[in-house]
This record gives sequence, C-alpha cells and structure tokens, in this order.
Amino acid sequence: MTTLHDQTTTGPAVALAGVTRSYRSSSGDVRALRGVTHAFPTGTFTAIMGPSGSGKSTLLQLAAGLDSPSSGHVRVGGVALTGLDQTALTELRRATMGFVFQSYNLLDALTAYDNVALPARLAGARIERAKVLDALDRVGLRDLAGRRPAELSGGQQQRVAVARALHSRPRVLFADEPTGALDRATGRTVLDLLRDAAASGQTVVMVTHDPLAASYADEVLFLADGLVVGRLYEADAGVIAATMSELER
Ligand SMILES: Nc1ncnc2c1ncn2[C@@H]1O[C@H](COP(=O)(O)OP(=O)(O)OP(=O)(O)O)[C@@H](O)[C@H]1O
Ligand SMILES: [Mg+2]
Repeated sequence: MTTLHDQTTTGPAVALAGVTRSYRSSSGDVRALRGVTHAFPTGTFTAIMGPSGSGKSTLLQLAAGLDSPSSGHVRVGGVALTGLDQTALTELRRATMGFVFQSYNLLDALTAYDNVALPARLAGARIERAKVLDALDRVGLRDLAGRRPAELSGGQQQRVAVARALHSRPRVLFADEPTGALDRATGRTVLDLLRDAAASGQTVVMVTHDPLAASYADEVLFLADGLVVGRLYEADAGVIAATMSELER
C-alpha cells in the first residue's frame, strides 16, 4: 500500500497550478493571488519576495494547506491538497511539513526543548535528548532549553522554530520572514542552516523582504499584485535589490 509519506518522494515538493485567492472585505473583494503557477523542486531553497501586500504570505499559507485557494490546485509531494479532508490534511502536514512563522509558531505551555521535540513525539519517534539539545545548540539556544515561549524574545522564539525544523527534518520547510527579528550574525546562522537543509534534500520556501537573505536561496520568486512577475537563479544581493526596486517603482 502506498501511504501519503511514500507519495511525497518524487516530483516537485510543492506545485501550484493556476492558484487564485480572493478575500471578502468590508471595502470589497481583495484578489490576493490572481493565478500563480509554480513548482518548487525537491531539495531546493526558494525565496519569495515582493512589495507589502503582494500576496507572499497568502502563497505560503496556500502551499502549506493552511488556507484553500479560491481556484486552482496545490500539490505537495504529488498529493492534491484540495482532495483531502481536514484529518488527512493535518496528517500530511505533520508527516511532511515544518513551519517557521511569526505567529502560532510554538506551543505556549511547552518549554523550548519540548517544542523542538514535539513533531517527532507526535510522529511516535523515540526522542534522543542529545539530538534535541544539538538542534537548540545550532541556533545558539542550548542554555534556554527549559524556557517557555513567553520567557523568550521574538527572535529567540523564531530560532526555537528553526531548531524544531532541524530536529524533525520535514520534507518541506515553510518560513515567513525567519530572519526578520534577528540581528545580522544570528540571521546569517539561520540562513546557513536553511541552505544546509536544502542541500541535504529538504525543500525550503522562505518569504523575505531582505535581499541579502534572499541571496542564500537557489531561486528568488518575485510577486507583485498577486502575480509572479520575475524569477532569478543564484542571484547576489545587489541584483536582487535592483530587481526589487524596479518592481516597487
Ligand atoms: N484575511 C484577509 N482578509 C482580507 N484581505 C486580506 C486578508 N489577508 C490578506 N489580505 C489582503 O491580501 C493581499 C495579500 O496579503 P499578504 O498577507 O499575502 O501580503 P504579503 O505579500 O505577505 O505582505 P507583507 O509583506 O506586508 O507581509 C493584501 O492586499 C492583503 O490586504
Ligand atoms: Mg506577509
């Protein structure tokens, strides 16, 4: 029998086909995404950039199955998310995805250590204390393993989420501004870890406003007004910044 897990080993890690998302708001309909088609190849690191309101977070939420498109399809490891009920979606997310988001990142009641160990625990894996501590060590938080999220700064909380993703090794890692709350040196550490993750076969999709952060990615996808308006491969920060200011004119 093929399980959800097995199906996630071939083809692009995440594929969007003709994806649109509209929101009803008091001031009328907002078309946050207006038809996005893109494949994120397995084992690559992609940065998504674009002006504020261009649809970056919406795209990430849809790709992760945290929100549903108004039209079009999202596939993760070949599995169409639209065909799944809530239980199957949760199971797929748990089996294949990791998140480094600014909100609803960590469980408030758990220590940093227990937050890092949680995905593996939910998957029924045996927890090796040294490995959990090693993941925290790689983001510089080994000494804070016993603290709860409320006792950590925003940047430290984000790093706990990065440690969790390093420890549980999800096939696909979604990150929304993972370096936004970090100083340059810590940010570089996190970006190196994300790049290593992709080099070892994980697929990383990261939203960022920072051209330097985006320069760590294999591909940069530019969004404007709900559409993909540009792509760069292995670009340096200068070229990325120039492309951004071109878009913002
Ligand atoms: N729940 C919602 N209801 C109505 N409109 C929404 C909702 N969420 C997002 N939008 C609108 O959809 C568009 C895209 O929003 P999104 O959050 O994806 O932008 P973004 O590119 O992530 O921006 P930022 O860089 O500021 O985080 C914006 O115009 C936003 O106002
Ligand atoms: Mg956003």
